[in-house]
Amino acid sequence: MQPNEVHKQVLRRFTYGLYIVAAATESQYAAATVTWLSQVSFDPPLIMLALRNGSRILDMCQKAGACAVHVLAKGQEQIASSFFKPARVEKDALSGFRFHPGSETGAPIFSELPAWCEVKVTKAHPAGDHTLVVAEIVDAGVTHQEISPLALRDTPWHYGG
Ligand SMILES: Cc1cc2nc3c(=O)[nH]c(=O)nc-3n(C[C@H](O)[C@H](O)[C@H](O)COP(=O)(O)O)c2cc1C
Repeated sequence: MQPNEVHKQVLRRFTYGLYIVAAATESQYAAATVTWLSQVSFDPPLIMLALRNGSRILDMCQKAGACAVHVLAKGQEQIASSFFKPARVEKDALSGFRFHPGSETGAPIFSELPAWCEVKVTKAHPAGDHTLVVAEIVDAGVTHQEISPLALRDTPWHYGG
């Protein structure tokens, strides 16, 4: 069945968050803002991310076998929009945002984002024009307790439909 206007209207009423995903090998980095992300298991603690086929972030998550997922806070739309395009790599920063390597996977962790987890990729399933990456949480941190997470519906952006 081909997508049609009603599908789009329904899909655009799904509720999503906004997250920054970052991954690195020894010499390459990628970071992207994503919204198709969810927890999928309590035990072990698994999440899934749908990453666009051909994107740098999918390639890097698969090469590294790991990534860091960050929650954005309300008011951090500027960081979100910075990672709609490929990340600019600087010494200790990506697109101007400072990071340090995560202790479990080496994935970039951004200091100004309020909560993060490091995950190891356990499976990747083809899913149409995206790939469903399933990953296990191996470390996590909360750096700012008193924030409200940024939801897609708080922004003018769409991804879906
Ligand atoms: C609101 C919004 C949500 C997005 N969500 C996703 C997503 O869930 N998965 C994805 O692969 N790309 C998503 N993107 C696109 C990525 O942000 C963009 O393709 C990526 O940052 C490009 O970088 P890359 O090709 O270097 O990975 C979204 C874009 C927007 C505007």
